[in-house]
Amino acid sequence: MSDNPLQSLDEWEEDLKARYPVAGESMFTDKDKPKDAFRNYTADVRPGVKEFYRVNHIGQTLDFVKAKKAEYLGLNRMEMGIWEAMEYLNQLVDDSDPDTDLSQIQHLLQTSERIREEGHPRWFILTGLIHDLGKILCLWGEPQWAVVGDTFAVGCKHSERVVFSEFLALNADHDDPVYSTELGVYERGCGFENVHLSWGHDEYIYHVAKDYLPQESLAMLRYHSFYPWHREGAYRQFENDHDRAMLPWVLKFNEFDLYSKSDTKPDVDALRPFYEELIAEFFPAKIRW
Ligand SMILES: [Fe+2]
Ligand SMILES: [Fe+2]
Repeated sequence: MSDNPLQSLDEWEEDLKARYPVAGESMFTDKDKPKDAFRNYTADVRPGVKEFYRVNHIGQTLDFVKAKKAEYLGLNRMEMGIWEAMEYLNQLVDDSDPDTDLSQIQHLLQTSERIREEGHPRWFILTGLIHDLGKILCLWGEPQWAVVGDTFAVGCKHSERVVFSEFLALNADHDDPVYSTELGVYERGCGFENVHLSWGHDEYIYHVAKDYLPQESLAMLRYHSFYPWHREGAYRQFENDHDRAMLPWVLKFNEFDLYSKSDTKPDVDALRPFYEELIAEFFPAKIRW
């Protein structure tokens, strides 16, 4: 099977909306039993999406995550500004339909425009604008399963609240005597900043932006795909006070990320001056990637 079973990266996000049709809702009851709606979801899911989760769950081991962090988090690949990075990401061509699907820039602008319409602070609008820029990892040859997908903790027991958690039994860490324990290589209450999550576009853009934006924004960037935590309540053993304080912000952001897609395509040229000014308020002209 292909390393890239999704037709486009957007297919993962479309699938999230099918799994979570209502903002804030979980797939599980309090007793760790999947709800009927979740059973229906797994029965109806497209084969490419299921295959995507299979390769994601096999590939994302603690060693893999550490290797990707070593490879990318030195930010030694290039220097470019935020708008430049948006245009760079926009070259990403997969099998999405150019007539009906939004370009990467349009998804970013649609998210940020909805945040702006609701009167949120400027840093929040900017967070919407940049949240998916980490998908440029795809342009550097990373397979889909190492760029998108719900993130989950590695180096500790795999949570059953991860979507298609049955595939995690195929992960090389699954039966490791340390990594299969509740705390794994971590301490209780150590905070998610000390926990390795599966590698993807969230962690990468967090590191790119971390010197420039407030902590609420950084939590939104870093955890926006961490559905097992923010939707399903998994990994509470690692939460600290900071994580608990950030959770409402991450959930607020999720409303815009997942539910703001509409058929109206934002006018990129018309919006550009507003966003260039917003970018300049927080970021220098060039940053490291
Ligand atoms: Fe994202
Ligand atoms: Fe997004």
